[in-house]
Amino acid sequence: MADITPLLADRWSPHAFDATHVISDEQVELLLEAARWAPSAMNRQPWSFVVGVRDSDTFARLRTAVSGYSDWALDASALVLGAYENAGTGPDYALYDVGQSVAHMSVQAEALGLHVRQFATFDHAGAAREFGIAAPWRPIIMAAIGLPAPGQKPEGRSRKPLDHLTPWQ
Ligand SMILES: Cc1cc2nc3c(=O)[nH]c(=O)nc-3n(C[C@H](O)[C@H](O)[C@H](O)COP(=O)(O)O)c2cc1C
Repeated sequence: MADITPLLADRWSPHAFDATHVISDEQVELLLEAARWAPSAMNRQPWSFVVGVRDSDTFARLRTAVSGYSDWALDASALVLGAYENAGTGPDYALYDVGQSVAHMSVQAEALGLHVRQFATFDHAGAAREFGIAAPWRPIIMAAIGLPAPGQKPEGRSRKPLDHLTPWQ
C-alpha cells in the first residue's frame, strides 16, 4: 500500500503552542490563499475569516471569544475565526465548503512547517457580536496556528480502520 503524502501523514494538531514563535505576513497570506482555492458547491466560496496575529488588536478581540473556553490556544502565533454564509435556497453546502477551505489552510500550514489545531469550543455568539457577523453569516470554527510548544508531541493520533470508511460495499 502506498503511503499518503507526508503533508497529510505528518499533520497533527498541537494542544499547546510556542508563545515565542512569530508568524510572518507572507505566511498568513499563503494560508488565506490556500483557503481561497478550495472547491465549493457552485463555486460560491461561502467562507470568510478573521485573522489575528498574536499581539495585534484583532488577536486581542478574538481572544475574548477564546478565553475561558480554549485557553491553550492563546499562545498560538495566529488565531483564525471561520464563518460560513447560509445560501438560504436549495441544498445548503456552505458548512461543507467552509470545512474544505480550512482543510486547505491546514495542509498549506503543514507545507510551511506550521501547525494548526481547529477548535469549536469558543464563544460563537460573542465572536459574532465582536466582529458584527450577522445572518446569513455564522461563525463556525476557530483555528490556532503556529509551532507546537517545546516538548509537544502528537497525542497518540488514531483513526477508525480503513474498512470502516466503506461500510455499504
Ligand atoms: C470541526 C473541529 C472541531 C474541533 N474542536 C476542537 C475543540 O473544541 N478543542 C480541541 O482541543 N480540539 C478540537 N478539534 C481538534 C480535533 O480534536 C483533532 O483534529 C482530532 O483529535 C484529530 O487529531 P489530529 O488533528 O492531530 O489528527 C477540532 C477539530 C475539528 C476539525
